[in-house]
This record gives sequence, structure tokens and C-alpha cells, in this order.
Amino acid sequence: MNLLDDAVSRLERWSALDALAEPVRTAAHALVKPRLVRNLLSGIPTGHPLHPVLTDFPIGAWSMAGVLDLFGEPTERAADILVATGLVAAVPTAAAGFSDWSDTQGGETRLGIVHAALNVAALGLYGASLAARKAGARTAGRGLAFAGLGVLLTSGYLGGHLAFTKGVRVSRTAWHEGPTDWQDVGAASELSTDKPTLVQADDIPVLVVHDAGRFLALDNVCTHAGGSLNEGTIENGCVTCPLHGSTFRLADGGVVHGPASTPQPSYDTRIRDGRVQIRARR
Ligand code: FES
Repeated sequence: MNLLDDAVSRLERWSALDALAEPVRTAAHALVKPRLVRNLLSGIPTGHPLHPVLTDFPIGAWSMAGVLDLFGEPTERAADILVATGLVAAVPTAAAGFSDWSDTQGGETRLGIVHAALNVAALGLYGASLAARKAGARTAGRGLAFAGLGVLLTSGYLGGHLAFTKGVRVSRTAWHEGPTDWQDVGAASELSTDKPTLVQADDIPVLVVHDAGRFLALDNVCTHAGGSLNEGTIENGCVTCPLHGSTFRLADGGVVHGPASTPQPSYDTRIRDGRVQIRARR
């Protein structure tokens, strides 16, 4: 394990952080509870988590401001504009990040609160940098911005760790391709119940619902964070995950409510000789 990995895993295990992280996480959860807010911040309109997309704006603006600051007076006006742009872009980026983080637990929550604190520090340094630039203190303005960039990159490392190592907001069905050929999953008479049934197809758990004389099938693993949809509720042609309340259309797996943003894989169904068969949708 290298030094960075070691430092990050110590943070993950540092339970003293819970005293700060849990109240903030609870407050963040309450703030993003309204459905419209939650759906927007989760990225449902784009079908992808919103936070990673938005981070490009403040990181891009501030890192380019750093490049222009190296050239001094000829590019100082453009650098000032980029510092201000990053400050504006940081607001929605933080909101989307808080929304994602509000569903984490344990070590992810601890890393997330450190990530957020570093971002707040970077925001403060860039705010002070802009104020110094406006006051004509250009050397101080550049110094504060470079300090902010260092904090931002450290925070970015933690954000990358949360996504790529801990899998926060990575679709839990990313590797679920489903059967390419029709597979028998049970007798139609046994699956024709009011209750959703959990079956296996190519080692993938699949939720089968008998609805108005037809069979609908979705991957049972919630794309958001792996909740078991067969333990959720079925209502109005949708299934709601028991973990964080994401709601998916049974007919096509489309996301109706977040925090999930990735649609649930759905499968074609047919009946042959009284048996229900499913295969991956083409
Ligand atoms: S696991 Fe979070 S909504 Fe399903």
C-alpha cells in the first residue's frame, strides 16, 4: 500500500469524524429531499450522475487561472475572470455532491466530509484571491489561488477515490449483461401472483412482476447502490427501492425518482409451453 492509499484508509477508519459527518449528512439529506431537487441533483435528466460532470467547470476554470497567473500582467484579467467563474460553478457542483454524499455510509461518509471540507477551504481561498485581485494585491491574489489549487487537487484525489475505488454512484448493474438467448425462469402459473418474484437468469437476479396479464422483468439490483428491488414496493407500474427510494418503471426500467440516475436494466419476456422466458432487451 502506498502512502496515499494508507492515508486515505486511515481517514476511512477514523470514527471521530462521525461526530461531524453524521449531523451534516442528515442535514444534507433533508435539504435534497424534495423530489424535484433530488431528481435534478441526481442527474436524472441526463441519465448520469450530475456531480462528476459539474466538477469539470470549477476545476477547469481554476486550473486554467493558475496557468494564466504564471504569465503575470498580460493575462491577469483573464485569470481573474476564470477565478470568478470557478466560484460561481462551485455552487451547483457542491449541491450535486452533497446530494450524492447524503446516501453514503461508514467510510464513504467520512471520506466525503473531508472531501467537502477541503472544497470549502478551496472555495474560501479562491474567494480571498478574487478579493485580493480586486484590491490590487496581485501577488497575494496569485498566492491564494495557488494555495486553493493545491487544496482542490487534494480534494479531487479523494473524490476520485470515492468514485473509482469505493464505487459511489457507479451503477451496480454495470456488468450485468443478462442472457442473450431466451432463458426459462419458471412456470407462468407460479409467477402469476400479486407478489413480485425473484428469479435467476445467467446468475443475475431478476425481478419478475405479473402485471395485467403480462410479465415484466427488471434487474433486481438497484443501479444506485445495490438495493434489492424485490424487497421494495410495487405501485402504479413502478417499483421503489427499499434503501433510498429510487423509483423505476417496471415496463422499461426508466428512472421516475432519484437518487438513482441510471435506468434499471429491463428484460424481454415471453411464454412458451406455460413457462416464462426472459432475455436481455435488444
Ligand atoms: S440502493 Fe439507493 S435507491 Fe436503491
